[in-house]
Amino acid sequence: MFRYGILSTSHFAVTRMIPAIQAGRDTTVLAIASRDGRRASDTARALGVARAYDSYQALLDDPDIDAVYNPLPNHLHVPWSEQAAAAGKHVLCEKPIALDAAQARRLIAAREQNRVLICEAAMVRVQPRWLAVRDLLRHKTIGELRAFVGTFGYRLGSHDNVRYDPAMGGGVLLDTGFYPVTMSRFCFNDEPVAVMARADRDPDRGVDRLTSAILEFAQGHAIFTTGMETFPVQRAQLIGTGGYIEMLNPWNPPGNSPSEIVVNTSPNLEQPTTQNLGFDPVDQYTVLAERFARAAETGGPGPIPLEDSIKNMAVLDALRRSAASGRAEPVG
Ligand SMILES: NC(=O)c1ccc[n+]([C@@H]2O[C@H](COP(=O)([O-])OP(=O)(O)OC[C@H]3O[C@@H](n4cnc5c(N)ncnc54)[C@H](OP(=O)(O)O)[C@@H]3O)[C@@H](O)[C@H]2O)c1
Repeated sequence: MFRYGILSTSHFAVTRMIPAIQAGRDTTVLAIASRDGRRASDTARALGVARAYDSYQALLDDPDIDAVYNPLPNHLHVPWSEQAAAAGKHVLCEKPIALDAAQARRLIAAREQNRVLICEAAMVRVQPRWLAVRDLLRHKTIGELRAFVGTFGYRLGSHDNVRYDPAMGGGVLLDTGFYPVTMSRFCFNDEPVAVMARADRDPDRGVDRLTSAILEFAQGHAIFTTGMETFPVQRAQLIGTGGYIEMLNPWNPPGNSPSEIVVNTSPNLEQPTTQNLGFDPVDQYTVLAERFARAAETGGPGPIPLEDSIKNMAVLDALRRSAASGRAEPVG
């Protein structure tokens, strides 16, 4: 059994990731740590986790932990991932892996010096539907990919949230703009050369709450809109020279119901003949936890290479520069 330790009682960890790890065939959660010892023990009891610690360092000192899952606020991703690596733990760290590309590069040194696996928890990269989309693209089912269109809107219930704190790496671009950025790079299998973005900011906190962008790839364009004060919606559309692909709930499909990809290669605009490819229910977070564990145990490559996460941060950096300058900005 591969034993994870969880840094914090993060809402996402408690509601989604811990149950997903516990559901893995060969993965389990051995311990949970919180800044508040009472919160750690209450959460551990409620989730059937054997050990609870009143500090993150105490969990890192536990010799029985194989890997740390880091779902801390964004500004703590790199510092605590470095600390965990220094303690000899493999690290599965939440997205975005850092505040910017320069900070993310520090993790290469942490990985090399401590000979551990460090990987961003970009679960969409292991989701079976997205792997199938990539196969369809490779087989030119929709001809040459020319445009990627992504949408991710949601509504935060309260402003009392790490996403409203600029010092913690808040804002919607880093939170959910992350997904169309990483998956457009995945689908084009390339890096954008330049980007443009517009951001609407919270008047009090200054974090972006609605961001829209264009990414210019050699082969085509990606565009996306993401907002954290909108009606909840998730869509992805890939438009090629010989067809298109559409996905509902592309980023967070429910893990307990079937999902599908819609493919249309009929040139008749008014009467499209679509093919619906069905997928069995699958929890993409469990898939990620299992694949990460296997890589850590075998010394194989992580499901999302650190080098790729750094390139992704460079695109997010360029998008923020563009939102500030009002101009197109080169990547890198
Ligand atoms: N992959 C996905 O689908 C997905 C979904 C949601 C979120 N996420 C990622 O998960 C991370 C956490 O998101 P979340 O919504 O779970 O946030 P959250 O509920 O606010 O959890 C963050 C946790 O960090 C700990 N913490 C340590 N220092 C803190 C500080 N100065 N201020 C606030 N909390 C602090 C707290 O736990 P203790 O008090 O117990 O120490 C807190 O519960 C983010 O990086 C986010 O991008 C990923």
